[in-house]
Amino acid sequence: MNARKLSIPCFSLCTLLLLFLRLSAAQLCHPNDKNTLLQILDTMGNPPQLVSAWQLDINCCSSWAIDCNADGRVTYFFAFKSDRSFQIPSVVGDLEYLQNFNFISCPNLNGTIPKKLTKLKHLETISVSSTNLTGPIPNYLGKITTLKNIYLNSNNISGSIPSSLGRLPNLTELDLSGNKLTGHIPKSLGSLIKPLSKIVLAANHLTGPIPRSLGNLNLSYVDLSLNNLRGDASFLFRKNKTALWYVNLGRNSLSFNFSTVEIPSTVADLVVNNNKIYGGLPPSIAVPYFEEFNVSYNRLCGPIPAGGSLQLFDDFAFSHNLCLCGPPLPPCS
Ligand SMILES: *[C@@H]1O[C@H](CO)[C@@H](O)[C@H](O)[C@H]1NC(C)=O
Ligand SMILES: *[C@@H]1O[C@H](CO)[C@@H](O)[C@H](O)[C@H]1NC(C)=O
Ligand SMILES: *[C@@H]1O[C@H](CO)[C@@H](O)[C@H](O)[C@H]1NC(C)=O
Ligand SMILES: *[C@@H]1O[C@H](CO)[C@@H](O)[C@H](O)[C@H]1NC(C)=O
Ligand SMILES: *[C@@H]1O[C@H](CO)[C@@H](O)[C@H](O)[C@H]1NC(C)=O
Ligand SMILES: *[C@@H]1O[C@H](CO)[C@@H](O)[C@H](O)[C@H]1NC(C)=O
Ligand SMILES: *[C@@H]1O[C@H](CO)[C@@H](O)[C@H](O)[C@H]1NC(C)=O
Ligand SMILES: *[C@@H]1O[C@H](CO)[C@@H](O)[C@H](O)[C@H]1NC(C)=O
Repeated sequence: MNARKLSIPCFSLCTLLLLFLRLSAAQLCHPNDKNTLLQILDTMGNPPQLVSAWQLDINCCSSWAIDCNADGRVTYFFAFKSDRSFQIPSVVGDLEYLQNFNFISCPNLNGTIPKKLTKLKHLETISVSSTNLTGPIPNYLGKITTLKNIYLNSNNISGSIPSSLGRLPNLTELDLSGNKLTGHIPKSLGSLIKPLSKIVLAANHLTGPIPRSLGNLNLSYVDLSLNNLRGDASFLFRKNKTALWYVNLGRNSLSFNFSTVEIPSTVADLVVNNNKIYGGLPPSIAVPYFEEFNVSYNRLCGPIPAGGSLQLFDDFAFSHNLCLCGPPLPPCS
């Protein structure tokens, strides 16, 4: 009887102890991943700040710059502060459970995205910004079908945007701004029903028309400024595009009749300066409350609609057009 009485608390205690051990063990950095992270550090020249942030000698899963799943497999890493000249190590492709990685403040990181990353079955976000990545965006990026976010802005990438990116079914945010990209924007980007909501291709050398397919998307943020795009962009606007809040098409060679455009009331930033846009300002432009607005240096004509927020901007937002008139410009004659 005594033995039985004793065995009950022991049973529960042992279970608790086992559970505790299991939980704490689950948080430990998996040795395979730890080994891979060591190799990444090595490639980066073991920058002291990163070495201390990753805590590989203790437990990588307790680092603020690394996330693990319940099995101690690395799902995220943040790599920074290397002056060494290096390329994205292909061993990143060995982090089987990786969902998201980020290289920042590595000015001499060059080369391209390694092909081995196509092995990754959970990768959702690639973020390599303000480094010196060169060469074209590889076609095989379109094979990582789990990708949702691609941030390769402010690098030295050249060549054209591969149309294979349009095959990514879950692509939501694409930022390739501040590179040396040439050629056309692939129409595949708008050809699938996909959740693409943010597209930033500003400050490249892109040419040709904006593909009409982009009008099929439910975009909220569009920045195509500082390129050599020409032709129509009116299809980017439509009254029912109520997700749209940021549009910057400035400094291109776009040419379309602005009178035919319907500006959704949700737009807060509308910048289309330095293009060849003609016609007049549509009545719908007087509805939104703009935080940023610029239609200067186009070929617009006619009265500036009153009643919205347009009169809060100074004449520099409207100047150098064919014959826009009315406040804040001089009155129409
Ligand atoms: C980027 O790479 C180019 C070509 O290799 C080189 O000329 C340039 O100095 C590099 N830029 C930086 C910031 O390292
Ligand atoms: C990366 O930069 C290093 C050092 O400047 C250079 O030797 C190497 O050729 C570059 N690699 C690529 C792919 O541009
Ligand atoms: C890109 O490469 C050019 C030379 O090829 C170099 O002058 C420039 O600094 C590089 N840009 C960046 C962001 O590294
Ligand atoms: C795309 O997202 C959906 C919904 O989250 C998910 O079920 C699907 O597996 C994803 N597709 C790929 C290829 O990752
Ligand atoms: C807006 O309406 C057009 C038809 O006028 C339709 O084809 C499109 O799917 C709609 N877009 C959204 C985001 O609802
Ligand atoms: C468009 O996106 C917004 C938010 O991003 C969402 O609320 C809305 O339901 C979407 N509309 C369509 C037709 O998908
Ligand atoms: C622009 O479109 C409006 C409305 O459809 C039309 O009245 C006007 O003549 C057009 N302007 C030009 C310059 O084509
Ligand atoms: C609009 O763009 C023009 C041309 O780049 C610039 O001079 C002006 O300051 C801008 N105005 C506003 C209000 O941003």
